[in-house]
Amino acid sequence: MVEELREIADRILNARVIAALTGAGVSKESGIPTFRDSDGLWSQYNLEQYATVEAIFTRPKEVWEWYRDRYNEVKAAEPNPGHRALAKLELFLRGNGKDFAVITQNIDGLHQRAGSENVIEIHGSLYRARCSACGKIYDMEEVVNGPLPPYCDCGGLIRPDVVMFGEPLPEKALDAAVRYAQQADVFMVIGTSAVVYPAASLPYIARDAGALLIEINLSDTPITSIADYVLRGKFGEVMPELTNAVIEKAGRE
Ligand code: OAD
Repeated sequence: MVEELREIADRILNARVIAALTGAGVSKESGIPTFRDSDGLWSQYNLEQYATVEAIFTRPKEVWEWYRDRYNEVKAAEPNPGHRALAKLELFLRGNGKDFAVITQNIDGLHQRAGSENVIEIHGSLYRARCSACGKIYDMEEVVNGPLPPYCDCGGLIRPDVVMFGEPLPEKALDAAVRYAQQADVFMVIGTSAVVYPAASLPYIARDAGALLIEINLSDTPITSIADYVLRGKFGEVMPELTNAVIEKAGRE
């Protein structure tokens, strides 16, 4: 892997725009379960039961209690060495005049807590709730400490400000993500099974626009066969190596 890391470091240092699409695999080493692995959330729970708009309107108390537990789990978690290395890479490269974005499908806020600054949350955030009627934004901490299900002053049901299955992605975030995919010279796909659209279309957009595609994952995904480099391993181990390779190479030039 050392030679591969050197080659990738070289390409990153010659890039103008770098973006990373992340998924649940990056938070696995922080103790947050993924969705589709054998010990993932969707092997334990029925997706339709909790992650659809229909579910929250028909069984709001039960669905809210589930999200409260997810929120508490995320709040108690800490960013892992991979999150911190990605943030370090961003700050280093931005300090060198490059444009760097993390596009995340995760709603756990761990990239930001690790120090990443330019984070595009395409599936929303568990730290926020939103009125389903008037759109007013609420702080999740306040909501989960009150009666569940929560209702807005306007009478509308408050819901987590996350994307549920079948819902469109927040427009501004998706636009920004697509722009980065189109402009990236290097596009990393990290810890995602890359099967949920439209997020999964971003690596294809990047590749078609000429980006170097790098995948970091423990196992094969649909992206593996189109990636220029596949770094097989844990995010918490591979990412620090990659960041170190970039910083070391820059130091030698
Ligand atoms: P998945 O659970 O589908 O995929 C997790 C990926 O992470 C798999 O490809 C694993 O091989 C990989 N992985 C696990 N541990 C890893 C580690 N330590 N290091 C590197 N890779 C690791 O999660 P997502 O792709 O994020 O959507 O799922 C996408 C969307 O489906 C989620 O955002 C969510 C979910 O239902 C919504 O809620 C809208």
